[in-house]
Amino acid sequence: MKIVLAYSGGLDTSVILRWLIEQYQAEVIAYCANLGQEEELIGLEEKARKLGASKCIVEDLTEEFVKDYVFPMLRAGAIYENQYLLGTSIARPLIAKKQVEVARKEGADSLAHGATGKGNDQVRFELAYAALAPEFKVISPWREWSFQGREDLIAYAKKQGIEVPVSREKPYSMDRNILHISYESGVLEDPWQEPPQDLFRLTKSPEEAPNTPEVVELEFEEGNCVGVNGEKKSPVEILKSLNKLGAKHGIGRIDIVENRFVGIKSRGVYECPGGTILYFGHRQLETITLDREVMHLRDSFIPKYAELIYNGFWFSPERYFLQAAFDQSQRFVTGTVRLKLFKGQLYTLGRKSPYSLYNPKLATMEADQGAYDPKDATGFIKLQSLRLRTVAQSQKGLFG
Ligand code: ARG
Ligand code: SIN
Repeated sequence: MKIVLAYSGGLDTSVILRWLIEQYQAEVIAYCANLGQEEELIGLEEKARKLGASKCIVEDLTEEFVKDYVFPMLRAGAIYENQYLLGTSIARPLIAKKQVEVARKEGADSLAHGATGKGNDQVRFELAYAALAPEFKVISPWREWSFQGREDLIAYAKKQGIEVPVSREKPYSMDRNILHISYESGVLEDPWQEPPQDLFRLTKSPEEAPNTPEVVELEFEEGNCVGVNGEKKSPVEILKSLNKLGAKHGIGRIDIVENRFVGIKSRGVYECPGGTILYFGHRQLETITLDREVMHLRDSFIPKYAELIYNGFWFSPERYFLQAAFDQSQRFVTGTVRLKLFKGQLYTLGRKSPYSLYNPKLATMEADQGAYDPKDATGFIKLQSLRLRTVAQSQKGLFG
């Protein structure tokens, strides 16, 4: 038996690595995806080898992550339950895909991950495995072993001589990549309790943010941000520079109680500075470039699309179907928006596009300019109101 494990180097996946070898007498390859988590990846290979891995593969996927996962999601304007920008949800399918590629190349027969049995991540990993490599055996240690929680893991680690991370033990669970940091559980479990001051690692609090606002210009082509302040940049560079800018001004902190796919309500705190700026700016440009009917129809699909990503259906026929529709809507979402960042808030200062549908001649309150004759509105309103007049006559009392 040969297993490829999605490995991060933390306590959980370190224990899992050893446990898999013991439990299954298997050869285990540790696979570590670098998605811009900026955690210590140096020394990871040696660590995995020490734990007994036959191989440890560390791969930088940041570019692919932003270009082929984060940007398509932003083109669609995805947001879960109106607040969460899906920073962890969107990372899982890519990790799973690469894990499958490694497994095939190395002639493995099984895939394993370190997600718990109560969350969304287990579903995301395993739905992606199923879509991409249904022939593989899937091992989810958290659902198999008898360890109840982290205390049990630490005890096992000590018994096995596994190094327990010496760094300050965090009283919550964290997931980081170039798009966001998520914090859950531990001290955050009481939804009435404010997150501790020192929780946030990326963003300044609005109170500590500069007292002078900063203006940024975002340039978009077909729904993708391609430049910041007049400078063309790659997707990764764009996200990095907007993360920095947003962090400085306290942009992108979110604190929600969200609905997990498995039916549990869970409190999540997030920092998503660059993503928040992109999400906001993109929509501002759409206000002048999207046709009304396309926009309203598209908007009605967003909750569904976000739910698909949240629930782990990135690799599904329905996500591909919706993506094609969203991308078609973006053909003319090209232009520039000017935003002001100030103490945790974003303000729109301006927007322009060579494909703008905004027609000042039509919108003006000044004298009539030809294409729109206000007299036509008389008939328009008369027919729009025909039903209402009928109801008023035949069903007296409906409106009180
Ligand atoms: N609640 C968020 C989500 O489901 C974040 C999950 C964080 N995962 C983690 N392994 N710490 O997308
Ligand atoms: C986990 O349970 O492993 C993390 C949280 C989640 O997946 O929702």
